[in-house]
Amino acid sequence: MRGFFISVEGSDGSGKSTQIKKIEEYLKSRNQEILLTREPGGTLISEKIRELLLDPTNKEMTAKTEMLLYAGARTQHLEEFILPNLQQGRSILSDRFTDSSIAYQGFGRGLGDMVAEVNYIATGGISPDITFFLDLSPEAGIARKKAEVDHTMDRLELEKQEFHQRVYDGYKALCNLHEQRICRIDASQSVDAVFAEIKESLDRLFGF
Ligand code: TMP
Repeated sequence: MRGFFISVEGSDGSGKSTQIKKIEEYLKSRNQEILLTREPGGTLISEKIRELLLDPTNKEMTAKTEMLLYAGARTQHLEEFILPNLQQGRSILSDRFTDSSIAYQGFGRGLGDMVAEVNYIATGGISPDITFFLDLSPEAGIARKKAEVDHTMDRLELEKQEFHQRVYDGYKALCNLHEQRICRIDASQSVDAVFAEIKESLDRLFGF
């Protein structure tokens, strides 16, 4: 049987990493073979593209270049890692997928529908079985990131408040568009309360 493809989305500082660890632990405790991965990244080539994308010194990068690099990293990740593993029955837990490009490049950078078109080419229209969107206001998210000890802000996190607000609006639009796939979760709740909601959906998906 093919594995399940799960993605976690959210603005910077929404608590994705904490919840991803909890999802992984939970599914392993249920004897599921689950592989943790991230975007941009997940393969050697995609991780190299990630370095280019997040390097704060790459100030000249244009919005279209950025969109294409994210899409390139995604194709490589999908073809080299995600699809072969799903086909062999393993489940994939990805920190971000195409929704991030729609929110950040489509809404944040203002590239609009072009982003969905390019990503259709990059993914052949493949999308996760379920997506958890951790909903936290951009102000609260960026404040959390800044408060983290030893955290160096990357090129995207350094963007203006208005950019992060547009990204957030993009996520809201995606939630409305894909009601079946995207579970919106109030990420201002405690870690345990957020996970309790996620767990409910996972139990349904895996049939526990
Ligand atoms: P991360 O900090 O969650 O690892 O994500 C890296 C940054 O890249 C984050 O600021 C969101 C951004 N991003 C995009 O702008 N477009 C994308 O398609 C992806 C996957 C991430």
